[in-house]
Amino acid sequence: MPTNPMLDVTAVRRKFPALMQVVSSTRPVYLDNPGGTQVPGSVIEAMKDYLITANSNHMGAFLTSRLTDQTILDARVAMADLLNAPGPQNIVFGHNMTTLTLHFSRSIGLTLSRGDEIVLTRMDHDANISPWLLMARDHDLTVRWVDWDTETGRLNMAQMADLIGSKTKLVACTYASNALGTINDVAKVVEMAHTAGALAYIDAVHYAPHGPIDVQALDCDFLVCSAYKFFGPHVGVLYAQREHLESLPAYKVRPAPDAIPERWETGTQNHEGLAGVRAAIDYLAWVGEQFGEPCTTPAEGHHERRCRLKAAMSAMQDYERGLSKHLLEGLSEIGKVTPAGITDIDYLEERTPTVVFNIEGKTPLQVAAELDKAGIYVWDGNYYALEVMQALGREEHGGMVRVGAAHYNTHDEIDRFLDEVRKIARA
Ligand SMILES: Cc1ncc(COP(=O)(O)O)c(C=O)c1O
Repeated sequence: MPTNPMLDVTAVRRKFPALMQVVSSTRPVYLDNPGGTQVPGSVIEAMKDYLITANSNHMGAFLTSRLTDQTILDARVAMADLLNAPGPQNIVFGHNMTTLTLHFSRSIGLTLSRGDEIVLTRMDHDANISPWLLMARDHDLTVRWVDWDTETGRLNMAQMADLIGSKTKLVACTYASNALGTINDVAKVVEMAHTAGALAYIDAVHYAPHGPIDVQALDCDFLVCSAYKFFGPHVGVLYAQREHLESLPAYKVRPAPDAIPERWETGTQNHEGLAGVRAAIDYLAWVGEQFGEPCTTPAEGHHERRCRLKAAMSAMQDYERGLSKHLLEGLSEIGKVTPAGITDIDYLEERTPTVVFNIEGKTPLQVAAELDKAGIYVWDGNYYALEVMQALGREEHGGMVRVGAAHYNTHDEIDRFLDEVRKIARA
């Protein structure tokens, strides 16, 4: 299979201790990436270093506390670079995307009232659905649903355009589906929301490890992601436009700061995790420096890192398109295997290398368990993409098998995976 010469996957893999492990005399194949990625050694080191040299609570008058303040700020600046946010004050950290979304939905709900409408999609992970359903329940809002086409794997944008109207106050939409891998035209979604005067809340959890994000170009009001999906530790991240962070009523405890973004960060943060977030982003900048288009940006400091990050994500995206093609072509040649979503290899730019499929006569759990015996890790079930599985009629049948590649996976690993799928289909 062709590999992108821009990305040296052997050099990339050397950075990840987990990928160098031998378990039961084989190297595990991590194809569970949409559920969480492995981390580079530098992330592990940064977390360890924080715990040795700076472990404390923040905002105190002593050295380790000052170092912790700096750790938090460094992580915010790094995230602002990754997302192209105007600055670190636009970045809120939390436990994970789900917790942040529940938190913000509670506040956004206070600004809405009976008769207001919200628009949700049936392609979203439930973390970008249930918080809004709860908000709608609490404030008597009307929920409008956008479907996706189970034949083409694409969101029904025409239906979304019809549903968004003068009563719409919020549109919640995923950047990419964690089940189908479909990448949505979220710039268009934001534009439609804004034309109606509604907020646009974008879930970039699945998309973030697979392509460049520019929140200013998108002009979204909110965008959420999770560092453990892009080679960092378990930390959730929310970007918001400054005016929302300032004007929305925050559920907070009284002594906590009133300034943004801290007023949104409930309790003590995962400081060692934040040290890891910054290291994960520096790792991505390294990918950009090594394998991306050269940066011509003259500016120093974080602007240069922004340029490297964009280059990294584009190089990874190119490489991953080769993995998507390999996966889709390989699976299509195996009898009894049925993938869902965008399967036409002419449209690889519309998907991430995440593919769901079933094998006739086997439950998804049986397939995942068989693959595990060969040291290949994949997910089965609904991965909380409940509406997606319901639309496919799979919810009652154990969902589907999900294979999800990342930039550190090789074509040899995809071949190993396909060989095992072939054996399982034959058995
Ligand atoms: C697309 C998508 N959105 C949201 C989430 C929830 O993220 P978290 O685990 O950070 O709450 C996930 C997790 O799998 C996801 O894939």
